[in-house]
Amino acid sequence: MDIVKYIQAAAARVDSALPGVVRGLHGAHPRLAESMEYSLAAGGKRLRPLLMGASYEIFGGKARDILPAACALEMVHTYSLVHDDLPAMDDDGLRRGRPTNHKVYGEALAILAGDALLTDAFTVLLSARYARRIKPEYVMAAARIMARRAGAGGMVSGQAADLEAEGFLRGTLTPARRRRGLELLSYIHLHKTADLITAAVEMGAALAGAPGKDFNALSGFGRELGLCFQVADDILDVVGDKKKLGKSGSDARNKKLTYASLLGVQGARREAGEMLGRALASLRRVSGAPGPKAALEAIAEFAYRREN
Ligand code: IPE
Ligand code: IPE
Ligand code: MG
Ligand code: MG
Ligand code: MG
Repeated sequence: MDIVKYIQAAAARVDSALPGVVRGLHGAHPRLAESMEYSLAAGGKRLRPLLMGASYEIFGGKARDILPAACALEMVHTYSLVHDDLPAMDDDGLRRGRPTNHKVYGEALAILAGDALLTDAFTVLLSARYARRIKPEYVMAAARIMARRAGAGGMVSGQAADLEAEGFLRGTLTPARRRRGLELLSYIHLHKTADLITAAVEMGAALAGAPGKDFNALSGFGRELGLCFQVADDILDVVGDKKKLGKSGSDARNKKLTYASLLGVQGARREAGEMLGRALASLRRVSGAPGPKAALEAIAEFAYRREN
């Protein structure tokens, strides 16, 4: 299998499906729909749909069978970015290489576009016609995972903790404060980022009706990959090429608590390498088709080494 082609094909499938998904939401206010499409169509790596598709394929299906579910999770992720960029949160002006949603449509419509992306992610996931092998109870399980990992037990609480931790690093960094910072940070990263990445692999496994043992191993993979992905994001905020990133970097201005600010870029990279190692160890415990597993491995390596 040509991994690069596999990844590109998966992203292209999602890119071409997403505009139709919004247009299929009957009765949507035209400018609201435009604002939703603006953020969805801005590109992005489509990592979560890719992870969901590859996880599903491990158990014998084809990723295109679950395209609506993959689009739904990308909608939840995109909503989280639209809100993350708002002035009340990270106050960012650039996302996916374009002005942020609120810069174009105003704060009120950006908030509402986020609300609609989140809610209609469930419309899309639950209203699709799936192949017979995808039983209704598998779809319900996927919906439960998406709700739980996006909600107060998941991503939203990570975002709340991330905002609360702004300014934590004021004053001298004693060893005790560094330890406390690392504890706080593991909660923040686990929820604000790893939860949606874990949701991607769990939803893929759930839609395939995967055995519990494989589901759990994939879930562990998603968690460690998600943590690694966020540490890489923190590093890129310091050393990344803003043009490649498509965002301008606001962690220093917002005095964010990050691995890079606590451990330095080298220390953070070391941590990310350990997380990658744990992710790959968990992946090796999954039984099933080797091709999609190799794709997951390649995606994990990319999360660690990426430049965008
Ligand atoms: C950005 O996610 C927010 C984080 C969780 C770090 P991505 O880096 O996956 O953003 P896109 O989807 O490629 O734009
Ligand atoms: C955002 O983390 C995580 C979510 C949107 C849930 P960041 O604030 O670090 O993401 P970027 O750097 O703005 O993409
Ligand atoms: Mg943020
Ligand atoms: Mg941000
Ligand atoms: Mg960031």
